[in-house]
Amino acid sequence: MRHFTTVNDIGPLDSAVREALEVKANRFAYQHLGHNKTLLMIFFNSSLRTRLSTQKAAMNLGMNVIVLDVNQGAWKLETERGVIMDGDKAEHLLEAIPVMASYCDIIGVRSFAGLKDKAEDYEERVISQFIKYSGRPVFSMEAATRHPLQSFADLITIEEYKTKPRPKVVMTWAPHPRALPQAVPNSFAEWMNATDYDFVITHPEGYELAPEFVGNARVEYDQRKALEGADFVYAKNWSAYADPNYGKVLSTDRAWTVDTEKMALTDNAFFMHCLPVRRNMIVTDDVIESPRSIVIPEAANREISAQVVLKRILEDL
Ligand code: CP
Repeated sequence: MRHFTTVNDIGPLDSAVREALEVKANRFAYQHLGHNKTLLMIFFNSSLRTRLSTQKAAMNLGMNVIVLDVNQGAWKLETERGVIMDGDKAEHLLEAIPVMASYCDIIGVRSFAGLKDKAEDYEERVISQFIKYSGRPVFSMEAATRHPLQSFADLITIEEYKTKPRPKVVMTWAPHPRALPQAVPNSFAEWMNATDYDFVITHPEGYELAPEFVGNARVEYDQRKALEGADFVYAKNWSAYADPNYGKVLSTDRAWTVDTEKMALTDNAFFMHCLPVRRNMIVTDDVIESPRSIVIPEAANREISAQVVLKRILEDL
């Protein structure tokens, strides 16, 4: 593997999951791969899970790790070419990328959608520039439109917990006070559509995701109907994608919060969320603390998804 930004980069999902379970059972077996190799993790946005799990995965593989928080202690970076740099941004990405690349072998990038310019976000301008100008393998630690390390961990978790070959997986929008990107739901939909699961998306009208991510998923505007018989409930908030409301919060209706009564409509479903989660907005305390909540093992699998991706990149260096 050279770069990892979408589900298409991982190849057949059954092989990827099999490899993930092997890595999970023996996570220190590949330390030779990372010997004297350096991972540079670049964060344009905050993180808890991605930062820790990816660093742990790299350490499991014997790598050295450098972490850069671009907005804390580094020069502010200009990302647009042609801009007269007379503002607060002291360095251009076009110099910064090759300089950073000279200190490492693999680069991970986290750069969220700005939610102001849909074209800019959906062109993935930041991570695309890293791929183009670094000369290094680059993987996404959540970009503007996708969060593939999260989706891969979600898939591993579903495979571990499913009790039937073709589970019903329902991704439900849930309320949040702030405008969030579509990266996690886009990516989850992309990965679920690559399986043969019964995959349903439910959200209020106005929250339709980009058609290329919805794919063949069934979209159901009635949340209760969507949840009937579900084996997995994947809750997530996202802001509007459709124009003219791109990046806006259209609703904070807590009738969409996942609570015990909603979970009772399911087939004793497992509850999932990528975290961080706003309790009693997205999900009630009762549900997230219930024995059917698998948010902690889901987060733990972030180490495994990152390790499979890094392992595959190291094998092809
Ligand atoms: N799920 C996830 O990516 O968490 P962080 O934002 O804390 O990295």
